[in-house]
Amino acid sequence: MNEKQAITSVFDLVATKYDNTSLRFFPFCADKLVDYAKIKPNQNVLDIATGTGMVALAAAQCLGNSGRVQAIDLSENMIKQARGKLKQAGLDNVDFHVMDAENLEFKSDFFDVITCSYGLFFMPDMSAALKSWLRVLKPGGKLIFTSFAPSAFQPLTETFMQNLAEYNIVPPTPRWLQLAEEELCKQILVDNGFAEPQVTQEQLGYHLGEFNHWWEVIQSAGYRGLYEQLPQEHRAKFEAKHRLEIDKHKTKDGIWMDVQTLFSTALKPE
Ligand SMILES: C[S@@+](CC[C@H](N)C(=O)[O-])C[C@H]1O[C@@H](n2cnc3c(N)ncnc32)[C@H](O)[C@@H]1O
Repeated sequence: MNEKQAITSVFDLVATKYDNTSLRFFPFCADKLVDYAKIKPNQNVLDIATGTGMVALAAAQCLGNSGRVQAIDLSENMIKQARGKLKQAGLDNVDFHVMDAENLEFKSDFFDVITCSYGLFFMPDMSAALKSWLRVLKPGGKLIFTSFAPSAFQPLTETFMQNLAEYNIVPPTPRWLQLAEEELCKQILVDNGFAEPQVTQEQLGYHLGEFNHWWEVIQSAGYRGLYEQLPQEHRAKFEAKHRLEIDKHKTKDGIWMDVQTLFSTALKPE
């Protein structure tokens, strides 16, 4: 299984669990991202790595009758969830496609705005991806993407990794660290042909009520890939030990989950 197939299979696995209250930073972020993008009626918007369509749906509500969102993801199951949510919302101005963000099948100079929430760092070749995104943006068009800061999910993630290490599962350096600093985001944008990069940060974190909510975070998004490496026979023991360790971080407000997020924007030169 190559890297992309591995990512796709994790998101295929979690798709029906992804929209849950423990992961509510995803819809918080989608609303903020659409505000930053200043989407106007009648625009063409591309939402890359749409997942279950949080940003696509938020963008669709800003568009008038002739504006449209194209939304893409590698995971068929995530797209299936997104299509269901679109129907439930009574919207019909989004087209969902199973498509690789590194190989966009859209015409050049077409989109006014490209959005990508917590998706770019999954691309094995982020520079190649950004170049193909630049191609489909109109001159003067805007890209906005989000990424996590180094403090995101800490110290909870560190505890998770230490507990996994006891089973000889040694995760690679988290991918999002490649986009975890303002300067890294600006540099990769400029290196790949974008102009006027700007980065702002916001804390989208909150208190989780109890360990089970953190467990839901692990089970329902990217961390699931690491958990799946644990042999079935060790899983109950792992969960019990992890519960004890995570409960040490609990205060009277609950378990703080840091979701420090970078919002990076840039333009395609005219
Ligand atoms: C953490 S989720 C974010 C989803 C959504 N943007 C959100 O904020 O809820 C990352 C998504 O990126 C998708 N993804 C990863 N690599 C991709 C690629 N090369 N092309 C398209 N989608 C990709 C995954 O399938 C997954 O749905």
